[in-house]
Amino acid sequence: MRVLSGIQSSGKLHLGNYLGALKQHVELQHGNKCFFFIANYHALTTVQDAERQRMLTRDVALDYLALGLDPHQAALFRQSDVPDVCELTWILSTVTGRGLLERAHSYKDKISKGIAPSMGLMCYPILMAADILIYDSDIVPVGRDQVQHIEMAQDMAGYFNNTYNCEALKRPEPRLNEAFIVPGIDGQKMSKSYGNTIDLFDSPKAVRKRIMSIKTDSTPVEAPKHPEQCNVFAILKLMASPEEVEEIAAAYRKGGLGYGTVKKRVVELFEEHFGPARERRAELAADPDLVEDVLVDGAKRARAAAAQVMARVRDACGLMTARG
Ligand code: AMP
Ligand code: TRP
Repeated sequence: MRVLSGIQSSGKLHLGNYLGALKQHVELQHGNKCFFFIANYHALTTVQDAERQRMLTRDVALDYLALGLDPHQAALFRQSDVPDVCELTWILSTVTGRGLLERAHSYKDKISKGIAPSMGLMCYPILMAADILIYDSDIVPVGRDQVQHIEMAQDMAGYFNNTYNCEALKRPEPRLNEAFIVPGIDGQKMSKSYGNTIDLFDSPKAVRKRIMSIKTDSTPVEAPKHPEQCNVFAILKLMASPEEVEEIAAAYRKGGLGYGTVKKRVVELFEEHFGPARERRAELAADPDLVEDVLVDGAKRARAAAAQVMARVRDACGLMTARG
């Protein structure tokens, strides 16, 4: 299977990114042909500072490697190192109706959060469809917020194939993790734009502070509590073993278990999961060439795959390539 996914270089990666997307990426690298990229063209819709863009791009690459992505298995690359996606974006935009883009939830959400409604933001799903279709992707592992975009990519593949009576573009399928929406410390969806994230590579002290500030109600320690209504429990559930989750749920119902105790357990679980990756990240960051070498190699592999699909697409729609 061809697996493809992307993460924007628009901020620090958080627990929602990991459990919704990255965890699956790392798992899928064995036994599949994987392409994972840093969506820096997409990130230009929100980060418009060159130095910051460069830094965030390198950060996402380091995060991926620290979390176990093996660049010999999966191609890890920068979106902008395969500029053919911009050509495919244009071609897809000529067969896609405006109405489809106007229905995009993520566009409406972003505007409601005050992001400028640039043409780039509006056409974001076309670029995303190009990202997916240009690698003949079979499956696209993402969090639930991205599913509509993948459905749009399916539609666009169909529009192109129907218009030119061909099979040049393959229809991709989304793939979701069991944790498809990870809640933030306030109980809403964890998102950098809500300021409610637990970042994966903060210092142990900063992580602890975030976890200890997860919002709870004021039920006293001794009173019975509802695990399913508690933000701390919702986050614990994503990291603890099923047996421990059951045990803690029973203790909630019985009473006598305080939220503070459960928060401390979440801190421990977080450190067990991400402490080793934090150390590994520091080692990787100390090698100045490592990230660039990985990204250059990944880009070569990605460009070779993209060139094959683009040859089919250009042929199907009558664009000719000048020789020489
Ligand atoms: P982004 O940071 O928007 O580029 O998201 C990168 C990936 O993380 C996408 O596949 C998202 O679906 C996923 N993701 C982001 N936030 C969450 C969340 N709170 N729960 C689950 N998945 C998420
Ligand atoms: N839009 C995705 C997000 O915000 C990032 C992304 C860009 C992507 N292109 C993609 C994800 C292609 C999967 C496939 O999370």
